[in-house]
Amino acid sequence: MIVGIIGSGGREHAICTKIKESLKTTKIFCIPGNAGTSALAENVDIKINDFKSIKNFCLKSKIELLIIGPEQPLVDGIVDYFSDTKINIFGPNKKASQLEGSKIFTKKICAKYKIPTANFKIIENSQDAKKFLSNAKYPLVIKADGLAAGKGVYICKDYNESLVATQEIFAGKFGNAQSFLVEDYLEGEEMSYFIICDGDNYKFFGTAQDHKRVGEGDKGKNTGGMGCYSPSRLFNSDLSEKINKKIINPTLTAIKDLGTSYKGFLYVGLMIKNNEPYLVEFNVRMGDPECQTILPLLENDLTELIFNCCLGKLKNEKVNFSEKKSICIVLCSEGYPEDYKKNIVIENLDKLILKKNEYIFHAGTKIENNQILAFGGRVLNFISVSNNFKNSRDDIIDLINRLNWKHGFFRKDIGYKVVNK
Ligand code: AMP
Ligand code: GLY
Repeated sequence: MIVGIIGSGGREHAICTKIKESLKTTKIFCIPGNAGTSALAENVDIKINDFKSIKNFCLKSKIELLIIGPEQPLVDGIVDYFSDTKINIFGPNKKASQLEGSKIFTKKICAKYKIPTANFKIIENSQDAKKFLSNAKYPLVIKADGLAAGKGVYICKDYNESLVATQEIFAGKFGNAQSFLVEDYLEGEEMSYFIICDGDNYKFFGTAQDHKRVGEGDKGKNTGGMGCYSPSRLFNSDLSEKINKKIINPTLTAIKDLGTSYKGFLYVGLMIKNNEPYLVEFNVRMGDPECQTILPLLENDLTELIFNCCLGKLKNEKVNFSEKKSICIVLCSEGYPEDYKKNIVIENLDKLILKKNEYIFHAGTKIENNQILAFGGRVLNFISVSNNFKNSRDDIIDLINRLNWKHGFFRKDIGYKVVNK
């Protein structure tokens, strides 16, 4: 089978690696891919928002299965754009992708279907904002409505902080905003929970805990993710049942009630308190770096699984994960998440010899003149799978130290809640 993968991050390199392992896969194209995927697939230099060129390329190259990694093309309707082709495209359509594309859309579903989440209010102009926020209880959370790459969320300690947030949102920091969301601050611990869904049936697809802050001890600025571990320490079958019953089933019913269905990965971002789940957000894709952490534990043939999912045949599939413990640590460019240098050579990367349980997935890299260059803030993902979290983490730190990239930094405490426990 000829497979196409859209995206260029660590998540897509991890997907590409797993797709390559399948005996069903005959060729892979990554659009646009990165230096890591170029060793496994043919990278194709087309922008991910150029649907017309992507479609022409897929038809010309006889791609049979197209996997969409990131949210933006999904929210923009790439799946709908391919509906006049026979290509099996994996991901939700434009309507269903609003689960990530509009926080207000999701909150309205939560209210209608009684899905547990933080109490919320939609505010539609700055006068209402001032009135509401001056009488509100703090801390509270303010969220821009559309896609904001994880940056449109403000945790506000007091009225002044909330005013700054609303001014930034209405000034257009996250696109033209007519409204925003205010919600209660939820106490608890976060967990990322995943399913794969074929429109009618879904299967559990792993859990992880992400470390979003740049500094050790979860301090400092928010980032795209500095690393994570899987499975989450919060996971248990009782909780899983509650998540399915209280959150996932009603959401999939809501999507059906809108006259469509959900196909693809669904990322359920949760706050867990006293073994009760509260929805924080949905993402209509795998997490990054959760995907890099979870996929090495998957025992299924991913090409076969995703293809069967596209055909609506997930019901008879058994999705199996190993019992092992996986940790991913992200190596970043010095300065991230603020300014960092681009196009710095990463020496020695091709000299590192990986053991069977170790993986390096590229994120912000490219190849120029036979050299691997870092050009993104999050550069490489290092993953190790073993029988316990401590071994996995020690193994990765050793690997990163062997690379010894002078322009990078990483958190040494990823998984601190499970290491040594
Ligand atoms: P979101 O983009 O909605 O996932 O929010 C980004 C991050 O902000 C989440 O991963 C949480 O860490 C935090 N967050 C969002 N909403 C809340 C909330 N209601 N209470 C506490 N923390 C929140
Ligand atoms: N790891 C967070 C995300 O993928 O949105």
